[in-house]
Amino acid sequence: MPAIQGPSTSRQIADAAGLNERYVREWLNTMATGKIVTYAPESRNYTLPAEHAAVLTKAAGPGNMATFARMIPILSKVEPSIVDSFRHGGGVFYDQFQDFMALWAGVNEQTFERTLVTKVIPLMPEVVAALNAGIDALDIGCGEGHSTNLLAQAYPRSRFTGYDLREGALEEARAKAASLGLRNVQFVRQDLGTLDERGAYELATAFDVIHDQAQPRTVLKNVATVLKQDGTFLMVDIKASSDVQENLEHPMGPFLYTVSTMHCMTVSLAQDGEGLGAMWGEAESTGTVGGSRVYRSCRQAGRRGPLQQLLHCPEALIRPSDGRTPPSHSVGHEFLQL
Ligand SMILES: C[S@@+](CC[C@H](N)C(=O)[O-])C[C@H]1O[C@@H](n2cnc3c(N)ncnc32)[C@H](O)[C@@H]1O
Repeated sequence: MPAIQGPSTSRQIADAAGLNERYVREWLNTMATGKIVTYAPESRNYTLPAEHAAVLTKAAGPGNMATFARMIPILSKVEPSIVDSFRHGGGVFYDQFQDFMALWAGVNEQTFERTLVTKVIPLMPEVVAALNAGIDALDIGCGEGHSTNLLAQAYPRSRFTGYDLREGALEEARAKAASLGLRNVQFVRQDLGTLDERGAYELATAFDVIHDQAQPRTVLKNVATVLKQDGTFLMVDIKASSDVQENLEHPMGPFLYTVSTMHCMTVSLAQDGEGLGAMWGEAESTGTVGGSRVYRSCRQAGRRGPLQQLLHCPEALIRPSDGRTPPSHSVGHEFLQL
C-alpha cells in the first residue's frame, strides 16, 4: 500500500488505503467536523496536521491516541453487564475482556520496549548488578509476558518466572519466549492470592497489576513471603492522585476513570474484591504497599529503596508543541517517579 502524505483528496486517500471512497469520504468528513483533519473546499483536500499526527499515528508509540480510541468498541461489549452492576453491584469477570487485555498488553509492550530495560530497572542500580550476576525474579500478573521476556533477554544469567491466571496469555508468552530462543524464562498459571513459595525470589515485579486485584493486601503479603529477606519489589501502576480533585486537570483522567469503571474496578468487584480501580493513586497505593510486609521485610534489610514504587501514566500523550512544560500528569520522559 503506497504511503500518502500531505493534503489529499478522499479518492487519493481511499486508493492509497485500498478502501471504498464513499465510506472514506464520509469518515473524513467526520474527522473534519471534529477538527481532527482540516478540509480545503477549493481543492477538496483533507490534511492531518503534523501536531495531530504526532499523537494519532504509530510514531506516537504507546501514546498513540488512536490505539486508546479502540478501547471504546471493546469496552462497549461489556456495557450491558456494567449497567447491571450499576444497579445491583458486583462486576464483570476477566474472561469477558479478551480483546481488551490484548490491546492493553500491546500498549504496555510498547512502553516496556522503550523504558523497561533502559530507564526503569536502572533506577535500582543494585538490582541491575544482581540481575547481571544472576538471580531468580518473579513477574506477577505477567499477562502476555512482554515485560518478563524483555527482562529475560536483557539479563541472561538470571532466571525469570511469570505468573498469571489466564492460560491463553501464558501460551502467548511462552510462544514469544520460544521465538526469542530464551531458556531462562518460564510462564506458569498461578493465582496470586494463593502464592505460597517462601524466600524464592530476589526480585518481584508487578506491572499494572495490583490495582486490579480482588484482594490486593493478600497479594502484597504473598509477595513479601516469596521474596528473599533482602528482596526488592517493583510495582508500576497508574500515575494519578488518590483525590479526585487533584485529577481534575489530568489529561487522561476521563479516559482512565472510564477504563477503571468498565474494567479495572469491575474485575475486582466481580470477585467481591476491594475495587481499588485504576485511579487508586499515589497516596493510597503508598499507604497500602508501604504498610504491608513487603515494605517491612525489605526495609529491615536496610536497602536504599525498601519499596521501589513507580507510578506511571501511558507515555507522552499530550506534549505541547509550543515548548511549554507539560502538565505534571502528562509525562514524556518524566513519567517515571520513585
Ligand atoms: C492489566 S493486566 C497487566 C498484564 C501485564 N503485566 C502487562 O503489563 O501487560 C493484569 C494482569 O493480572 C492478571 N491477574 C489479575 N488477578 C490475578 C490473580 N489473582 N492471579 C494471577 N494473575 C492475575 C490478569 O490476568 C492480567 O493478565
